[in-house]
Amino acid sequence: MAKKYILVANWKMNPGTLKEAERLVGEYKKFNKNLKADLVIAPPALYLAPLTGKYSKNFLFAAQNIFWEEKGAYTGEVSASMVSELKVKYTILGHSERRRMGETSLDTSKKIKSALKEKITPIVCIGEEDRDEKGEYMDTLNRQIEESLKGILRKDIEKVIIAYEPVWAIGKSEEEGMKSHDIYSMTIFIRRGLSKLFGKENAEKVKIIYGGAVGPKNAKDIIRESHIDGFLVGHQSLKSKNFEEIYTSLI
Ligand code: PGA
Repeated sequence: MAKKYILVANWKMNPGTLKEAERLVGEYKKFNKNLKADLVIAPPALYLAPLTGKYSKNFLFAAQNIFWEEKGAYTGEVSASMVSELKVKYTILGHSERRRMGETSLDTSKKIKSALKEKITPIVCIGEEDRDEKGEYMDTLNRQIEESLKGILRKDIEKVIIAYEPVWAIGKSEEEGMKSHDIYSMTIFIRRGLSKLFGKENAEKVKIIYGGAVGPKNAKDIIRESHIDGFLVGHQSLKSKNFEEIYTSLI
């Protein structure tokens, strides 16, 4: 069976108005739909209701974050059950930009469990801040994997998507991003970590996608050479022409 890729547009806190968001989705709608890829849009939380209301027949949607409790006195938070009501099927969790604001791997693990309970697929981000010669970044990654996935049942790990995003590559140009052979070795490293925790057979079923400076210039090479299952794309997903090129590289 041909591999089904997943392409996630992480809009972050963009665009500035709902009108622009709708225009962007309208441009995505013109993409060739005969590709072997699931296109998932992760808009700001406030746009989820209007966009899913209008476009859930055309696209899949993701929240950029959720909280682990179902409801209650948690000012500013949104729960898994709330986004699930909007037919949102995915949520990004543990993104480095949230980790920088104080989110811990333990927080991420609680959010993963709450997403799974609502049948929402968690897209769990891991990635090192920078690379050091001693290879300490590998310990960082192992720790993120272990702590973020703590308490997840062996049988449930295949419901989780791992997004490997080296923080030093995020927001950069394609030239400054990670090379495809390095991405390949990192996916092997990550899968080995998952095997240790969840068993080889279960770990092999986990989709690993890549994010960080993916654009039209490097998408094709990465997809061909690094054996990943798709992309998590930030700034280039706001430019529909560039995003379409990334999308068509998944053929
Ligand atoms: P970028 O961001 O594509 O702008 O590098 C990716 C991400 O942060 O998810």
